[in-house]
Amino acid sequence: MNIVGIHPGHDASLALVKNGRLVHSVAMERFSGVKKSHIIKFEYFERFLWDCGLQIDDIDYFTMAFWNAENVPWLNIYSPPNEHYPLSIFGRDNVDVGILNHLDVHHTGQENWRPSFVEGIGYTLPNLWDRLRKPFISQSFRHKLVAPLHLTVQGSNKIFKGYFVDHHTSHASAAFYTSPFEKSVIFTVDATGREPDETSGMFLGDGHRINLFKNPQYMYGTFYDSATEFCGLGPGLEKAGVLMGLAAYGNISLKAQDNWKKWTRPYSKRGETEDVTYDDWLFHQISGDYPYVRTMIPQIINKEPNHYMYTREFQKVYSKEQSTSQHVMNVAADIQFIAERSLVHYAHKLFKEASNLHDNNLCVAGGTFLNCNANYKVMTESGFQRMHMFPACGDDGLSAGSALYVNHQVKEQPRLHYEPKDIMYLGYDYSNDGYDSPYVEYDLDLDIVSQEIADGKIICWYQGRAEMGPRALGNRSFICDARRKDMKDIINSRVKFREWYRPFAPVVLNEYKDEWFRMDFESPFMLFTVPCKKPFDIPSGVHIDNTARVQTLKRSDNTKFYDLIKSFYNLTGVPVVMNTSLNIKGRPIVETPEQAIELFNESDVDILVINDKMYYKNKLKNG
Ligand SMILES: [Fe+2]
Repeated sequence: MNIVGIHPGHDASLALVKNGRLVHSVAMERFSGVKKSHIIKFEYFERFLWDCGLQIDDIDYFTMAFWNAENVPWLNIYSPPNEHYPLSIFGRDNVDVGILNHLDVHHTGQENWRPSFVEGIGYTLPNLWDRLRKPFISQSFRHKLVAPLHLTVQGSNKIFKGYFVDHHTSHASAAFYTSPFEKSVIFTVDATGREPDETSGMFLGDGHRINLFKNPQYMYGTFYDSATEFCGLGPGLEKAGVLMGLAAYGNISLKAQDNWKKWTRPYSKRGETEDVTYDDWLFHQISGDYPYVRTMIPQIINKEPNHYMYTREFQKVYSKEQSTSQHVMNVAADIQFIAERSLVHYAHKLFKEASNLHDNNLCVAGGTFLNCNANYKVMTESGFQRMHMFPACGDDGLSAGSALYVNHQVKEQPRLHYEPKDIMYLGYDYSNDGYDSPYVEYDLDLDIVSQEIADGKIICWYQGRAEMGPRALGNRSFICDARRKDMKDIINSRVKFREWYRPFAPVVLNEYKDEWFRMDFESPFMLFTVPCKKPFDIPSGVHIDNTARVQTLKRSDNTKFYDLIKSFYNLTGVPVVMNTSLNIKGRPIVETPEQAIELFNESDVDILVINDKMYYKNKLKNG
């Protein structure tokens, strides 16, 4: 049975569950070269099928992680709407327009299908509109968690069966069904929901079933996105992690320490003390400055022509230049502190309320749990003994989550076991496809590469299947020496060009993790930021507060990468190297060997490794 999952929002992705097992998933940004791309062109869809070895007619079910399931039971993919199938996604008329979140507000006709993310104009996070209307108050999701649909696909005469799966249920499924837990509670948090108070969910996982436990009405994920923009850092969707990096330079205020619980209480418990523009009110409480959205309200509320073009650009509180002032750093510190305390608080409440239902296991999902600092606090302070997340824990994981939900919950297929490596590298393996390189080819020698790293060289490291999720986990990475104090600046000035205050991450051989870091758990997906015990030994791998977003690596998860670091350890006595994603600022991680060569050509890097071959920048074939 082949179940193809489609996530057509930002961080669009495709996934395949084959005979009960998640075997392939890819974010469309890897195909398009545009970060967080929301478009699934027909050629990407065909390429995905080719990579999976499938024909369209081999597909038994489609699944979609979607806000509004029940209103669109008939759908075309890549075909124009017709009488029987009045709705179309990626149809010929709108092939370049991904369906984003517009169905959550307007869902009746093609004319309302406009992107809420308008590239080149600015950015509009979908909740701007939501933030201006009064949220409903509820204790449960008001729509079905799954709804059947029928659809046609260009290139096939078959009428396919499919399912819409609720957004947070899809997040929960990606985490739980890939976890090693028979029983677990699942906490999902992100920045958007079908209704404003549905930006979080708590679920119970038991065997092959997931059920909604409660809607905690935790809405801070939305605020974190807005606040990123108010701080002058750029679109919240892309830059929330930057705020987290900046926060380490600030001081947490007494006001935040006194008020975080009140500021993050569930919506229904807020009473009338705040108005509906809650994000703006809260930002004012924290910073003392007010985002002037009120000047926009008449145009937006009256839906004047182009009202949807108003964006948070109009709401900027601080400029890009101001974003690194001590004041904004302090604001960032408060925002991050509140995120950490409140997530621990809600997770602990869940721990207590469902105490006989979780065996001390917690799964988390949703873009908010890309907050690695908060993840460490939740792991160590909420009471749970074990914690699991899917490496693509943001919306890129929704295609896999929706497909897994239908496989297990709807089709009642039994759970299967996944090792970390089974979900880290879900992309295509180009090893057998040829490529041309202008450089002299040498057989890979790990000892030579580790010596070059120790000598201060930067390595372009490209191997096998692509990672799924935002992190490079050893198959598409720049590797260099974290012991060198200046390496952070060198890699930033030569290849990454990132904000100066953003840290780089280390990878440590698993058996040395507690010698180097304060952790008694594993972090194979690089989603926990932990205190470093020897920060002065790896100065480029730690942040200003001596923490590191560490990846722990077992040989069974990536033999060649492990052996490379082991060789470096034998040489230097340090079982740690820096591992940062193989991309340049603003671009997604490279997908193909050709792209790796192109990046190598363009950047000031010394050595390129592709699978079992290595190349030197100064050794051209015709040189
Ligand atoms: Fe989400």
